[in-house]
Amino acid sequence: MTESPLTVPPFAVISGARVRAALHGREKHLVAVVEETYRLHGAGDSVNPPSSFLRFPDRPASRMISLPASIGGEARVDGLKWISSFPENVASGLPRASAVLILNDPATGYPFACLESSIISATRTAASAASAADWLSRGRPRPVRVGFFGAGLIARYIHTFLEGTGWSFDEIGVHDLSADSAAGFRRYLEQSGTAGRIIVHRSAEELIRQSDLVVFATIAGEPHVDDPSWFAHNPVVLHISLRDLAPRILLASTNIVDDVEHCLHAATSPHLTEQLTGNRDFLHGTLDDVMRGRVTIPADRPAVFSPFGLGVLDLAVGKYVYDEVARSRQLQVIDDFFHELRRYG
Ligand SMILES: NC(=O)c1ccc[n+]([C@@H]2O[C@H](COP(=O)([O-])OP(=O)(O)OC[C@H]3O[C@@H](n4cnc5c(N)ncnc54)[C@H](O)[C@@H]3O)[C@@H](O)[C@H]2O)c1
Repeated sequence: MTESPLTVPPFAVISGARVRAALHGREKHLVAVVEETYRLHGAGDSVNPPSSFLRFPDRPASRMISLPASIGGEARVDGLKWISSFPENVASGLPRASAVLILNDPATGYPFACLESSIISATRTAASAASAADWLSRGRPRPVRVGFFGAGLIARYIHTFLEGTGWSFDEIGVHDLSADSAAGFRRYLEQSGTAGRIIVHRSAEELIRQSDLVVFATIAGEPHVDDPSWFAHNPVVLHISLRDLAPRILLASTNIVDDVEHCLHAATSPHLTEQLTGNRDFLHGTLDDVMRGRVTIPADRPAVFSPFGLGVLDLAVGKYVYDEVARSRQLQVIDDFFHELRRYG
């Protein structure tokens, strides 16, 4: 059989509006997409090198991160996420993060799409958090009091994904250093029609002690929660912002990550704990290990999920968006984007 010659795919640009339309209301399906991607990654059918951080001497609070990746399975796609974090945007009412995702054709290497990706990033983060909340709480009473520690855009997406995948709460706690953020998040909760009682906590300790599911989504650069007694009721903790918890909290908990090598980098709390103890004994496994039954989560300790955030998840969700937009014939193709297509002209 002769192989058909390779062709260059058309290049499409997908706006945030189209991305949102493709993802809106599909929380259950997107959690399944993310879980399948963790399984592929755990089985070795992916390439996900370390993220690369661009930092600026004149803007120390800001950074840009590149996440190249490749996944197999049905999605089978290569690509790159390029995401900026500018925390000072928030004071002007702008989101902290902005991003694009490039999808590359695995046959020719040609990029075939550029997608607005802050929504994809928040979506894959929230889908992974909702998955972890489910798997980590299976051996204990299902949490009914959730506490959001840090109440920005990521917290909002995680709440949407928890409710969209069947969680309901008697009580929703909120704690944020910024009264504006706490008020904005409360407004969002009220508008979303959530049934739970909403309590804004001035005190971090009170929020944690009153929540059996705690979501950290701050922008803290170093640990600021270090009293293990606050966790004496053994909550499930989604440590999405990665740098909030002091090593002694992790040492008293069951620790689950998305990828061990990735997570032990960039001064995350697990990285600090490894540096302190000189070993990785405090890490119990990955979410894939939990899903496959290789690790069980005891109910008599806090259970902490610290996901570094893998580029393969962005690719999987981005490819899902691309396929949906293509299926509904709404791809905006840029004609002649690649112009030099014959080697000798
Ligand atoms: N692990 C992952 O895969 C992943 C993915 C995306 C985002 N994140 C992280 O999620 C975090 C939140 O992102 P966002 O876009 O919602 O940011 P955001 O700026 O919109 O919101 C962060 C909120 O945290 C509050 N805050 C900061 N420090 C605090 C503290 N010590 N105590 C209480 N509140 C505090 C801020 O006032 C703000 O309201 C970031 O750290 C980001 O890096 C992680």
